[in-house]
Amino acid sequence: MQRHSKLVWSYIVVTIVVAIMLLYYVRPELTWTTIQGIIFFTIFALVAEATPVRLPRGEGSVSIGFVFIFASIIIYGPGVGAWVAALGTISKKELRGEISLEKTLFNRAQLATCASVAGLVYLHSGGSVGEVIFPDHLLPYFASAGVYMLLNVSIMVGIMALAQGTSFLNMWLVNFRWLTLNYLALGPIAVLIALVYTSIGMFGVLVFVFPLMLARHSFQRYIDMRDVYLSTVTALATSIDAKDPYTKGHSDRVNKYSIQMARELNMTEDQVEMLQYMSILHDIGKIGIKDVVLNKPGKLTEEEYEEIKKHSEVGHKIISEIKYLAKGADVVRHHHEMYDGNGYPDGLSKGDIPLGARIVAVADAFDAMTTDRPYREAMPKEEAIEELKRCSGTQFDPKVTEAFIGVLERGNATTG
Ligand SMILES: [Fe+2]
Repeated sequence: MQRHSKLVWSYIVVTIVVAIMLLYYVRPELTWTTIQGIIFFTIFALVAEATPVRLPRGEGSVSIGFVFIFASIIIYGPGVGAWVAALGTISKKELRGEISLEKTLFNRAQLATCASVAGLVYLHSGGSVGEVIFPDHLLPYFASAGVYMLLNVSIMVGIMALAQGTSFLNMWLVNFRWLTLNYLALGPIAVLIALVYTSIGMFGVLVFVFPLMLARHSFQRYIDMRDVYLSTVTALATSIDAKDPYTKGHSDRVNKYSIQMARELNMTEDQVEMLQYMSILHDIGKIGIKDVVLNKPGKLTEEEYEEIKKHSEVGHKIISEIKYLAKGADVVRHHHEMYDGNGYPDGLSKGDIPLGARIVAVADAFDAMTTDRPYREAMPKEEAIEELKRCSGTQFDPKVTEAFIGVLERGNATTG
């Protein structure tokens, strides 16, 4: 606990106190029906939480636990919903004691707060407990699911911002974007479950949940498949890096810098994903260039330079033929274009150069400057930043350069 700053610690305490007050305020009448509801939905939520869907690129996981929390709010009201949220989201790690007590309590408090407030919003915006009236109750559904999501993201990002010193707004936006989609997809399922439960009963829900689990399984398979793509792409890039000992790890670092810039520039998740593949593969065309030219320690002749320059077009051709990657191929083609139009292969300038290519250009140059090369030693990071600034507006897109310098100065990127 000493590692927590006072601020983080107060944040945890306040969240727990607020949750206890809310749990008391919305407490359900303890009847056999409400106890049954808590047990039934807690079990479902626990199963859902224990089998989360892993997101691509190792970026955490999503579970469908919210479906059961939200359904219990509609069926039984905020009191039961709050307990389902608090109990139904306990993870295996928490049970095994691998997570500190304060964190475990904080997590419980966070979710109980979200469900209590979402339940109150549901009631006060016209929703009625125990019945599903569609579409009359559309507003209460939206309002309460929306409030649940907003609170959940804000409490979570709040503690992350305090503990890690990162920007609240930035992190909030990144999380908010994909969570919105998540909740938009899960909300209707919760309403459906509530409908099945109120009209057929518990058995109906059991029958309904089975296909849901199947859907989860195929979704996971789909995500796993995308991870396989990424491994294939990385393996391809490693083979390029292996051709030249001086560029070992180059694709990897260019990828890391590019993703950081993309996030800083608020690109969408789809764009970030495509950029990830393209930044890893940006020099794939070097596969077609003779090793003697590629690894030549001295100055290149005009002819050799022309040969090297071909790699962006060759890369573009290779990528265009891979169905899954084809729409990003332009990033590879144009990663040596210059902002002022003096680059190659097409002499594009400014906004005509795809944003991804402008990003990779900055990442590529920065990594080239900050690593040892046959003809010179690595430049210190500060000097490389100065160089980026100097070439901003001529070689590099000023907006992209600014974004990258922002990332570097906050220390989110490491050279190495
Ligand atoms: Fe290149």
